[in-house]
Amino acid sequence: MADAIDAAPVRAQASGAPLMEVQDLEAWYGESHVLHGVTLDIREGEVVTLLGRNGAGKTTTLRSIMGLVPRRAGSIRHAGQELINARSDVIARAGIAYCPEERGIFASLDVTENLMLPPVVRTGGMAVSEIYELFPNLKERARSQGTKLSGGEQQMLAIGRILRTGAKLLLLDEPSEGLAPVIVQQIGRTIRELKRRGFTVLLVEQNFRFAQTVADRHYVMEHGRVVDMVRNEDLNTSMDRLHAYLGV
Ligand SMILES: Nc1ncnc2c1ncn2[C@@H]1O[C@H](COP(=O)(O)OP(=O)(O)O)[C@@H](O)[C@H]1O
Ligand SMILES: [Mg+2]
Repeated sequence: MADAIDAAPVRAQASGAPLMEVQDLEAWYGESHVLHGVTLDIREGEVVTLLGRNGAGKTTTLRSIMGLVPRRAGSIRHAGQELINARSDVIARAGIAYCPEERGIFASLDVTENLMLPPVVRTGGMAVSEIYELFPNLKERARSQGTKLSGGEQQMLAIGRILRTGAKLLLLDEPSEGLAPVIVQQIGRTIRELKRRGFTVLLVEQNFRFAQTVADRHYVMEHGRVVDMVRNEDLNTSMDRLHAYLGV
């Protein structure tokens, strides 16, 4: 039963102006028009998910926010700053970090070396020792090469790595994907702890039972647009609607 209590999402402390406002975001890969007007907002200290079927545009939304999609239009305002035309290094220095679905762990580097890799872009980032406190399993594996890590350890390393940079808004792409339930629970505990520490999280998820244990609100994407928003407390009464969107 400890788990049921443990799984209760931390309430959003935040109110007031959004930390990030995305309006009418469009994105293209070459000739292919992929996002057709994504509108969403995230308040400081919130954990917000993007739910949706494969191909709905969730990853492209994160990549667009991070400035990693060659052509985009619309508006991405973060802490009052317009980022739609900003380069990704400027976006990183604004305090936004992205943890890609493929995790991007360097196979030939050990855990500590992987942690040290991304540049610190702002003050207030976590020290490696603090990251190891948050992920005790990683500490035990400090000298292990990237290739030797389990999927769960790689995911923790990928999240831990962006905490050193000083970013306060974390974009996480499907951190639960392909992991055993017990590891997914650990990732959930970590996200709730990050929220407790004041981080703001935009999380792509397919697993909405997991999403429910960490998030304050959920945006649903379809065909490159946000088509709905559900508060976490309304998730259970909105299940039919969500099942229809997600086809599960
Ligand atoms: N690098 C790319 N080049 C061209 N099309 C892409 C690329 N990446 C994704 N797409 C297309 O963009 C659409 C949205 O993809 P994506 O954002 O990855 O969706 P999701 O993360 O929701 O599964 C899909 O139709 C996908 O095929
Ligand atoms: Mg994706």
